[in-house]
Amino acid sequence: MSRPSANQPTICESPVKGSAELKTFYVTTAIDYVNARPHLGTAYEKIGADCLARYKRLAGFDTYFLMGTDEHSTNVEKEARRLGKTPEDYSAEMAVEFEKVWEKLHISYDQFIRTDLPIHKTSVTQLFQIIHDNGYIYQGTYKGFYCASCEEFVQDKDLTEGGLCPRHQEKAEWLEEKNYFFALSKFSDALKEYIEQNPEFIQPEIRRNEILQVIAHGLEDVSVSRVGKTWGVPLPIAEGHVVYVWFDALINYISALGYGDKEDDKFKRYWPADCHVIGKDITRFHCLIWPAMLMAADVPVPKSVFAHGFVYSKGTKMSKTLGNILDPIEMSEFFGGADSLRYLLLREIAFDRDGDFTIEQAVTRYNAELANELGNLFSRTLSMVRRYRKGDVPGWNSAAEQDFERLAGGVVDDYCSHMDRLEFDEALAAFWKTVQAANRYVEEKKPWELAKAEDPEPLDVTLRVLLEVLRMSSVLCIPFMPVKSAEMRIQLGLPSDISALEISEAARPGDPGWREVGTPSPLFPKIELPESEQ
Ligand code: MSP
Repeated sequence: MSRPSANQPTICESPVKGSAELKTFYVTTAIDYVNARPHLGTAYEKIGADCLARYKRLAGFDTYFLMGTDEHSTNVEKEARRLGKTPEDYSAEMAVEFEKVWEKLHISYDQFIRTDLPIHKTSVTQLFQIIHDNGYIYQGTYKGFYCASCEEFVQDKDLTEGGLCPRHQEKAEWLEEKNYFFALSKFSDALKEYIEQNPEFIQPEIRRNEILQVIAHGLEDVSVSRVGKTWGVPLPIAEGHVVYVWFDALINYISALGYGDKEDDKFKRYWPADCHVIGKDITRFHCLIWPAMLMAADVPVPKSVFAHGFVYSKGTKMSKTLGNILDPIEMSEFFGGADSLRYLLLREIAFDRDGDFTIEQAVTRYNAELANELGNLFSRTLSMVRRYRKGDVPGWNSAAEQDFERLAGGVVDDYCSHMDRLEFDEALAAFWKTVQAANRYVEEKKPWELAKAEDPEPLDVTLRVLLEVLRMSSVLCIPFMPVKSAEMRIQLGLPSDISALEISEAARPGDPGWREVGTPSPLFPKIELPESEQ
C-alpha cells in the first residue's frame, strides 16, 4: 500500500551538490544498551539511519552521523557483575563488539559516542547543573514501580495483572526513594506549541498524535536521579546519587559534539540535530523529556525525531529479553553480504511501520529482485556489450535519450522525494520500476536479433540505454548497497569512488567517464532456502 507522501513532511529537502549553500545535516540513532549484542531489530534502525546519512551525503549535505552505546544502565551493571567484570571494563569491551558489528553492516557513522567516556560525563554534569541553576530541578520522593529493562519509572496502570512490564514481560520492582525531579510539567505549553508549529518535528504523524495525547492528559515531573548507586554520572548537586540513565543518555546527542567545550566547533556547526532516528517505544523520552531538558537549559531543540517501527520475528517484537532474535551478522553472511541484507530489510519493512522479517520471504525477494531483476539485467547487458561491441560503450544520441527518458524519466525525483521522507521502501519501489522496464526493453528490442542486422544503430542505442539504466542504478543503490554499488561501477567501467558521486549524476545520462565495460561476475548469486525454513 502506498502512503500519502504529499502530506508527510520532509525531514530536510535535498539540494544537489554545487548549489550555492552547503547545508549541514546531523543525524543520530538511539544509543544501545550494551548488556547483549546487537540483533536484527537494533540493526534495522542503524541501517535505516545509515541509508539516510549516505543519501544526504550523496545529495551534497555536510552530513554528520552519530551512533553510540548507552552504558550506565542497571542491566549493564548486572551483566558485568555476573561475568565477574567491572561495568567500566565490560562496557568498553561491548562497545568494541558493537562497533565491529556496525562496521560489518557497512554503517558509515562519523562518530561513536560512549556514555562512560569523560567527554560525555563532563557534558552531563554541565547540563544538569545549568538546568538546576535555572530552577527546574527539585528534591522529592519517588514512590512507584520501576522496570529495569525499560529503565523507566512506570505507573501501576501500565503493568499487566501479574505486575509485569508489558514490553519485556518482566516483573517491575517497587521503589521508594528520595531523589531529584525535573519539572517537566512546566514545559507542557512550550512543548505543545513547538509540536504544533513544527509538523516535521515528530514523524510519522501517528507518533505525533500520540505525543500530543500524552500532553493533553497532563505531564508529570520526572525523577532524574537514583540514590545509592555508583554506576553512572555522579549528580553535581548532591552526593550519593547518580544521574538517571535516560537523562544521562539523551545528552549524548550534544556531548558528542563537544557541548560545553568552547574549543569544539562541532556543536556550533551541527546542532540542532536534523533528525534523531529512534524506535517507536522511546518517543516520550525524545519528544517530551529531551526537548524540555534543552528548553530548560536554553539550548535549541532538535528539528525532527523519526520513530521507526519494529522488526518482528514470527509475530512478536524481536528483543533480547524475549529471546527471539536473529543475528544480523549471520543473516548478512547467509545473504552473501551486508548489502543484500540492508536492501531486504529496508525494502521489506516500511520504515515507519512494524513488519515481520522471515527468512523465507527474504529469500524469495532476494531471488526475484536482486538475483533476477537487477542481477540478470546487469550480467546480460554487460555480456552483450562485450560480445557485440568488445566492451566499447556505444555513443549517446537523441534516440538513446528518448528511450532512456521512457524508461527512467522522473525516477530520480521520485526517489529523492521518498528518501527525504525516509520512505526507503517506496524509494526502492520507484527506482525498481526502471529496472523492470529495462528488462522488458531487452525482451522488446531483442538485441540478439539486432546484432544480426546491417545497421549498427538500433543495437548501439539499445545497449547504451541499458548501460545508462545500470549507471543510474549504481548511484541510486549507494545508500542501500554501498559496496555492491562500487562493484557495479567497477564492472561497468565507471569511476568507482562512490564518495565523490552526487545524486544529480544519476539523472544525467550521456556523461563522460565511461571506460571499457568489463566481463560481468554475478552480483547476487541465487540463494536456496535452507531446509530448516522450508
Ligand atoms: N538505550 C536506549 C536508547 C537511548 S537513546 C538516548 C534504548 N536502547 S535499546 O538497546 O533498548 O534500543 C535501541 C534502539 O533499538 C531503540 O531505538 C529501539 O526502539 C530499537 N529497537 C529495539 N528492538 C527493536 C526491534 N525489534 N525493531 C526495531 N527497532 C528495535 O532504548
